Amino acid sequence: MHGEVKPTDAALGAELRGLDLSKPLTSLEVELIKQAWLDHSVLLFRGQDLDDDALIQFSKNFGKLELSPASASATAGGQVHSQPEIWIISNVVEDGQPIGALGDKEADWHTDMSYVDEPPMGSILYSLEVPKVGGNTSFGNMYKAYEKLPAVLRDAARELTCRHDSSTTSVGETRVGFEGVWDVRDAPGAVHPMVRVHPETGGLALYLGRRRNAYVPGLELEDSEDLLDELWGHCTKPEFTWTHRWAKGDLVMWDNRCVIHRREAFSPRVRRVMHRTQILGDKPR
Ligand code: OGA
Ligand code: MN
Repeated sequence: MHGEVKPTDAALGAELRGLDLSKPLTSLEVELIKQAWLDHSVLLFRGQDLDDDALIQFSKNFGKLELSPASASATAGGQVHSQPEIWIISNVVEDGQPIGALGDKEADWHTDMSYVDEPPMGSILYSLEVPKVGGNTSFGNMYKAYEKLPAVLRDAARELTCRHDSSTTSVGETRVGFEGVWDVRDAPGAVHPMVRVHPETGGLALYLGRRRNAYVPGLELEDSEDLLDELWGHCTKPEFTWTHRWAKGDLVMWDNRCVIHRREAFSPRVRRVMHRTQILGDKPR
């Protein structure tokens, strides 16, 4: 059996070395990856060579796959080139059509697809083309963020829920079929506990989705805004995060149940092409 786990020196994340993900994995190797994923929340595999079928096969080791959110994205563009499980994330425009989503702007801190009732447990992102500078992706540890909250806030958060806006992407685009949000109290999207119990580790993690258009049901608008600002200011502190600088062939998988992530902007003159799968998850509790 192969595979060596090298934790980062940051608050989360580990590199897994010695595995070729284009080949079928043994059950021991799959177990090693699953355990490392639960332990470190984000895993990095470098130097992989995967086509979409291989990416899908690898992803299925961890559960059933969710279809990509492309159908609901304003920049779904050339998604027809790929399979329904693959979400293309790219700024590349071909024949006047974006081949993927999220463009070149910053993607704000978020958790993937938390605006649905049963959000994906994890996402797997594979890099085909990356710029030399910019477009780094950061991850935040929401177990540690929860643990380090002042006790009063921790107790308050356990009693509250949060509504996760489904109308707007992490780069601020309105999804197809949605209208802009004028009053966050009317925003569409799922309501989830603000602190969730990880179904596999049993750990408690802050679960906030994304800041834009979020609302805490039951609170006055101003109180909801203040509380969310305070929580987001806290959980995005560098002490809880790790930033990955991409190289071609990197595959990163993160656990959406206990991790937030953001992507920094990059130059519109360079190409960035990533393919993503998402693993089905359960209802946050
Ligand atoms: C994602 C995402 C970040 C990136 O795939 O969910 O937010 O680095 N992408 O492209
Ligand atoms: Mn994302």
